[in-house]
Amino acid sequence: MKASRAVSLRRLEPVREEQLAEIDAPEVRRLPPARTPRDRIMPAMTVELVRAAKEDAPVLRRLLQYYVYDFSELVGLDVSDDGRFTTPPLDAYWEDAWRHPFLARVDGKHAGFALVHQRSRVTPDASTWDVAEFFVMRKYRRRGVGAALATRVFDTFRGPWEVRQLFVNEAATTFWRSVIGAYTKGRFEEAIIDDDRWRGPVQTFDNSNR
Ligand SMILES: CC(C)(COP(=O)(O)OP(=O)(O)OC[C@H]1O[C@@H](n2cnc3c(N)ncnc32)[C@H](O)[C@@H]1OP(=O)(O)O)[C@@H](O)C(=O)NCCC(=O)NCCS
Repeated sequence: MKASRAVSLRRLEPVREEQLAEIDAPEVRRLPPARTPRDRIMPAMTVELVRAAKEDAPVLRRLLQYYVYDFSELVGLDVSDDGRFTTPPLDAYWEDAWRHPFLARVDGKHAGFALVHQRSRVTPDASTWDVAEFFVMRKYRRRGVGAALATRVFDTFRGPWEVRQLFVNEAATTFWRSVIGAYTKGRFEEAIIDDDRWRGPVQTFDNSNR
């Protein structure tokens, strides 16, 4: 069994030019590869952060599948027998006043989400804003979309903030240090927590007077 799998893997050939042309949809071509800040097309994109209504729950639930899929390679998750990942519960976002769900759109298309809590995850403080989940779809990454959305999320709520990443999510830590660094002009702190509350870096800052 193992041997035959190895054989079929070896048989895989590089994708040919003409095969690529088949999947080269016009909207994909519109986005040039963004390898450096110079390549970004931010000015041409309309990035929106929209509060998610209860009717948006099914969309958010589907986007959460992609989010958890991204995490699956970091933390070793599998899909259930029905082919879906277990996603964080959503209903409470429209029941608890301290939970705030947002959808992200780029040029009117779904491009991610941000779920915010007013409740610290690492201290008893119930006034602290916490980024519970944050996601940018792959097509839109490394073009400043995440930074634009995060800035809007921060500007929406004033006060003490806490942003957490798992140790294994090093890309997210680089992202948040960069975004929060720019947003606060370097006036933020970072702590490392490694206990039952959380395992990874936590950036904190206060935007009350921004
Ligand atoms: C992390 C994430 C939100 C970044 O979104 P994005 O739109 O690609 O981020 P931006 O383009 O605004 O990046 C801003 C800066 O963050 C840093 N950064 C972003 N993604 C990075 C990556 N994968 N590796 C290293 N640095 C990264 C870079 O400094 C980048 O600036 P540059 O492109 O000029 O180098 C996105 O990759 C994502 O949704 N990941 C999966 C879910 C996740 O990990 N969420 C965070 C949970 S804490």
